[in-house]
Amino acid sequence: MEIKNVKGTKDLFGNEIANFQYLNSIMSQICELFSYKEMRPPVLEHTETFVRSVGEGSDVVRKEMYTFLDKGNRSLTMRPEFTAGIVRMIVQNKLYATEVLPIKAYYCGPVFRYERPQLGRYRQFNQFGIECIGGNSLYYDAEVILLGYCILSSIGLDNVTIKINTLGDDESRENYKSALKDYFKDKIDLMCDDCKNRYEINPLRILDCKVNEDQKVVKDAPKMRDYLSQASKNRFEQVLKVLDGLQIKYEIDDNLVRGLDYYSETVFEFHLTSKAGNDYGAIGAGGHYDKLISQFGGPNLSGVGFSFGLERLVSILFDNNEEVRENDAEIFVLPMEEKYNSNAIQLSLSLRINGYSTNVNYENGKLSSSIKKAVRANAKLALIIGENEIESNTIIVKNLVDEKQEEVKLDDLSSYLHSLLRHHHHDSDKCECCYGDDDCENHHDERD
Ligand code: HAM
Repeated sequence: MEIKNVKGTKDLFGNEIANFQYLNSIMSQICELFSYKEMRPPVLEHTETFVRSVGEGSDVVRKEMYTFLDKGNRSLTMRPEFTAGIVRMIVQNKLYATEVLPIKAYYCGPVFRYERPQLGRYRQFNQFGIECIGGNSLYYDAEVILLGYCILSSIGLDNVTIKINTLGDDESRENYKSALKDYFKDKIDLMCDDCKNRYEINPLRILDCKVNEDQKVVKDAPKMRDYLSQASKNRFEQVLKVLDGLQIKYEIDDNLVRGLDYYSETVFEFHLTSKAGNDYGAIGAGGHYDKLISQFGGPNLSGVGFSFGLERLVSILFDNNEEVRENDAEIFVLPMEEKYNSNAIQLSLSLRINGYSTNVNYENGKLSSSIKKAVRANAKLALIIGENEIESNTIIVKNLVDEKQEEVKLDDLSSYLHSLLRHHHHDSDKCECCYGDDDCENHHDERD
């Protein structure tokens, strides 16, 4: 029987890998500009890490965690998100005592949720996210949203909708929850089973229900904004004012409550429909939290952060034709007989040291089929090593794009390749003062 991948997981290869790497690299660079440093919590945590933080009442903890007993009978969980692990790590290592606050962490890696797989929804998916922990200003909420916005526009996604809401402080939320309970009391019997559960555990989550009939009932429910304490109201207004000042557009969404229990005050989501019309759900989401650090036994600090779903972003890049392409080896070395393989392995090493990605055809074979293989692999040049070339210390360089070929002395190979492939080596060619701006007066004369 053929063995297939686990339902809800995805094999990544080819261009898709190139796109994940591209996203990770751009996102990390922008995070570093905002003074964030990478942190890597483990995939496996004690189940308690998530139960305590994400919340017993959340769908994630109730239904979606990959939890098992290990051989030592410990209950472990494969992380369904990063925030809890990052906070656990900061508290356990007392980073709040040794680092300048706020601690700014970014992270990237796979997370696991037992959800029903569908478009943009997997059981193993990748998140890239940030947490800003121990800051004492509402500006951090705005700056975190700004950082998310910068990341998305730097990958060409600038028509993003930012949905934002406030969940207020504890007191506001408790008042609001009882107002919701009152409102839904005589309606809940007609609503879905999930909502019936939510009514008992956390009525806020009813607002998030996707069932059409239920949404009609939700429409007229009391609004959070009418139950906010003065402090929470002011805080939210100020966050919005900072975003206005930054000209970041947002939509206030009264029903945005988020599925994880640790949030208070600002919550937000990034939404975008691809050019092909596909809506993959939120491409990223996050918010502010006040109790998480103390719940893990740390001091009374707050935090704010978000995570992007990388699979969703890659799908959007694909739909929008904004994909980056996989980088193929530029050079294919073709030794014509097995006895020249040792020359080929030496030559390819020095090419690689000089920064050219290089492939070698150690299977030898006929010239025509070797060339075909190099063309299929998208190489730009084939370097052919045969008897004549070995005798005369030369090599044949065949341009696979225009099919011209030339015999080149091995001593001259380096400068010959440089002149042929320099277009493909932008970075090393670019003038350091301007990185290739055409108007720069310092440009080297030989640049074209
Ligand atoms: P979340 O909303 O659960 O938040 O997940 C963040 C993002 O992960 C979503 O917006 C979505 O893009 C992606 N995502 C979620 N579930 C799936 C899935 N099954 N398949 C594919 N992508 C998915 C969090 O995880 C919080 N830790 C965010 C945060 C950070 N809040 C504060 N700091």
